[in-house]
Amino acid sequence: MSNSPEDPLSPAALKILNDLDLLRANDIRWRDGKAFSLTYCASDDARHLSETAYRMFSHENALNVAAFPSLKNMQQEVLEFVMQLLEAPPSGAGFMTSGGTESLILVVYSALQRAIALRGSERPLNERFNVVLPSSAHAALEKGCTYFNIESRRVPVRSDWRADEQAMIAACDDNTILVVCSAPQYPQGVVDPMELIGNEALRRNISFHIDACMGGMLLPFLAPPHLPWNFSVPGVTSMSVDLHKYGYTAKGAGVIVYANKELRQHQTFFTDNWLGGMYGSSGILGTKSGGPIASSWAMVKYFGVDGYRNLALTARKVALQIARHIDAIPELVLRAEPDTTLLCIGAKDPQSLSIFAVARALRANGWYVDEQTPPDSMHLTVNVVHENRVDEFVSDLKVAVAHSLKIPSNDEKGNTPLPYGSV
Ligand SMILES: Cc1ncc(COP(=O)(O)O)c(C=O)c1O
Repeated sequence: MSNSPEDPLSPAALKILNDLDLLRANDIRWRDGKAFSLTYCASDDARHLSETAYRMFSHENALNVAAFPSLKNMQQEVLEFVMQLLEAPPSGAGFMTSGGTESLILVVYSALQRAIALRGSERPLNERFNVVLPSSAHAALEKGCTYFNIESRRVPVRSDWRADEQAMIAACDDNTILVVCSAPQYPQGVVDPMELIGNEALRRNISFHIDACMGGMLLPFLAPPHLPWNFSVPGVTSMSVDLHKYGYTAKGAGVIVYANKELRQHQTFFTDNWLGGMYGSSGILGTKSGGPIASSWAMVKYFGVDGYRNLALTARKVALQIARHIDAIPELVLRAEPDTTLLCIGAKDPQSLSIFAVARALRANGWYVDEQTPPDSMHLTVNVVHENRVDEFVSDLKVAVAHSLKIPSNDEKGNTPLPYGSV
């Protein structure tokens, strides 16, 4: 049976495709650079390639890569590419995942399995294992802790929004199995300091994860000064990087890299305790599409190190352009100088201006920005698709601020943030 993209479609199939196009009439306009959240777009050519590669392997099943050596080889090449960017040691070993959330859930799971292997599963009555993490670390870690009944021990960040290493160290105890830092954290876009935490993880012989889901494809190319953030930090046991963010691949593609295969083995799952024979899997999913793997492989080949360097430098340049415009708008404040491309913006005087009203005025004008709290803020994930949109965005932002100054700050509807993720 042929599956070439050139095959003419039947009238019934064409009608369904047309209906699909109609269905997305109210979706955010990310392809033309109007969305500062959820989506990334490098160029029409790259997107077309990534979608075509995805389509070619969308029905292939990465549940069993022995049946699809193509997927096994592509996955290995993608992993090697990312490991080189992270300065992983030669012993480094990883897996592709469906993205940051699966990676972070698996990090919690593998830390738990490792702790059980090292210390046994018996816990004193009323004691649970815990994970120590800054208040800024991603919500998916909360999900992992909830799934595995582990205490999430959140430690407030410093006034510059970075992890408070001393406070994190003080929060660790004999039940701590994992500490986490981010490069950068999502809410304010800053890289955590992590060397003291890494040394503490070494001293305690516990897992230490760096969440570089956002920064893994950017920081290798950005000039210091940014803090050490990769496997060069002492004690790092694993790192996560998302390709469906600044790798510009189709959705469903992340990478988790461990410092060695012994650490990685705590993530894998095997059972023959059923009537279907030996079942092994590397992640949470069973059947999984080969599409994200093929799309990632295609993007890695298409851009290579030099291409990703250009993309990272461009996205950074655009983010800094917007940051300087924000500095010049008296009613707004940039919460932190960004370490990569994430901008967090607040109202200088929240009594006279609701930043959520500003975000909604922008949305009414076709833009899409995230709203987050605490504190009440607007969040922009800047990527290369915004390169030619800066002036238009800044002009609309100024109009949105002027419009919102007229809305009372106690307007309840305008002051409830829209969720970052929804069901
Ligand atoms: C730092 C960080 N980690 C993890 C994630 C989760 O990634 P995903 O939504 O792709 O599962 C995100 C998402 O924005 C993130 O910013």
